[in-house]
Formats: sequence, C-alpha cells, structure tokens
Amino acid sequence: MFKSNTPYLLFGNPIHQSKSPIIYQLFSKDTNIHLKYDTYCIKSDDSFSKIIIDFFNHQGKGANITVPFKEQAYFLPNILTERAKISHSINVLKKLHDNKILGDNTDGVGCLYDLKRLNFIHTENKILLIGAGGAARGIIPSLLSLPCSIDIVNRTFERAKKLENLFKNIGNIRAIDVSSLKKLNYHLVINATSFEKNENFDFFLSNIILYPARTFFYDICYCDNITPFLFWCKNNGAIYYSDGIGMLVSQAAYSFYLWNNIFPKVDKIIQILNKKKKYL
Ligand code: ATR
Repeated sequence: MFKSNTPYLLFGNPIHQSKSPIIYQLFSKDTNIHLKYDTYCIKSDDSFSKIIIDFFNHQGKGANITVPFKEQAYFLPNILTERAKISHSINVLKKLHDNKILGDNTDGVGCLYDLKRLNFIHTENKILLIGAGGAARGIIPSLLSLPCSIDIVNRTFERAKKLENLFKNIGNIRAIDVSSLKKLNYHLVINATSFEKNENFDFFLSNIILYPARTFFYDICYCDNITPFLFWCKNNGAIYYSDGIGMLVSQAAYSFYLWNNIFPKVDKIIQILNKKKKYL
C-alpha cells in the first residue's frame, strides 16, 4: 500500500534538497489552483516502477521524476509525448481520465524558455555544451529546434559521439575533442555535467573560449551560492552568466500546465527564489 496520500509527488533520490514543493506552492498561490505536492525518496532497494504504479493506482494524479530515475521512467507510461520520445527520458507523468499514464519531458522546453527569458539565446547561435549525460540529452532537442548548432565536449569523448549520432538527424550537432581544438567563438556555453570542482573546467574552457566577456554562460545546476562552473567563468572574464534556477521553475511550469492547463507566472517566482542567492 502506498505510504502517502498526496496526489502530486516528486520521486527521486536524494530529494531532501528539492525546491519543487516551494515552487508549486508559489504556482498555486499565483493561479488559485490548489495543488497538494510533496517529495518521495525512492530508496536503493525499492522498485521504482512498483512504487510509481502503486502511486497511480491509489491517489496519484501527477508526478515529477528526478535523478536518478528519468531514464527508467521512460518505460512506464502508456502514452509518450513527442519530446519525451526524442529525449528518451521522462520528468513528468500525468494520470489521464481513462486511467492511462502520460509521460512527458519538460526539461528541454524549460531550459529553452529560461535561456530566452534571459536573452541568452537566439536563432542560429553556436552553442558549446559541456557534458554528455542524461541532463545534456534532455535539453539537446529543444536547443536544436530553435535552430542552433551544438558542439558537445565531454570528459569521455565516446559519450559525446553517442549523442551526436543520436541527434544528428534532427539538427546541427557534433562531438568535439577538446585537446585537438584551437580557441573558438561561441554565443553560449552550457554546463550539463555533474562535477563540482572549479579546476576541472580549465580542461574544457581555457582552450576553447575566445571571448569570455561576450559569451553567455549557463549552468543547468543551481544553488544559493555561486556554482563552481559560474565561479570559474566569472574568474575568467565572463560578464553574462546564470545558474539553472529559472530552468527548474520553467520545467515545473510546463508540468503544472500539463496537469492544470494553466501556465503560471514564471518570472515572479524566479525573482522570489533569487532573493535567497548569496552572490547576485
Ligand atoms: P546526469 O544525468 O546528471 O547528466 P550522468 O549521466 O552521470 O548524469 O552524466 C554526468 C556528466 O558529468 C557526464 O558528462 C560526465 O562525464 P563522463 O561522461 O566522462 O562521465 C560528467 N562528469 C562527471 N564527473 C566529472 C568529472 N570529475 N570530470 C569531468 N566530467 C565529469
């Protein structure tokens, strides 16, 4: 029997640090739609699929899925949106009227929405994407759809090459080997890795960013302190940079829209969350 009676839950592990409950609370206030939302930590010896099926068989109306379950979640829904199919991962589920489960991925559209909001991205931009894991894969289709061109660098070149092969039929994307590159000029550099040491970014960036003061830098990670990637960028001459708090709010807004047909006011909520930042 499922151990929570909340109809909307975020599933992941770890989950204690999540800002999603507060974001949905602010959406509820903004839209006057009462949405009871909480987090649920799936332990390593629990069965992810069993828990999700149990949730939707009981009180569950909608779910967000976060690390490390987004890829597994792809295999659960009865129906997938096109963007979920392309990214092969799921971050939102909805129970439909006929009890079927719909799976969607709002990470990519959330990222693009935030980059546009910040005025960090325009059609035909050249983007350097650092990282070739699940987070990178989730945002690539939306960036290519603008359209933009993407170079991917990654510690493990083969993983970047895999993403090139996965997406080359939908846009201009190539894996690059950092060590063989001269300095390049990018409009936008996005960090989609999970590493957290400042010095690691020298390996990626010192050799390839030509004009740091004219380049936009975006970290899909976020925290109240400056992220290691943005710290590195700032110390190396960057002027335009942002963490991914706006992406978090935007992907949640698209989830809220999927559940309620109303898109909440994203800017206002980002402003509220930014007030907690220690470096702005
Ligand atoms: P996620 O779903 O968060 O993207 P992931 O699939 O494990 O997680 O991908 C993590 C990304 O961070 C990868 O691009 C990984 O590089 P590798 O493909 O070479 O593993 C990158 N990463 C993690 N730790 C790193 C480190 N210490 N130095 C460089 N890259 C790192």
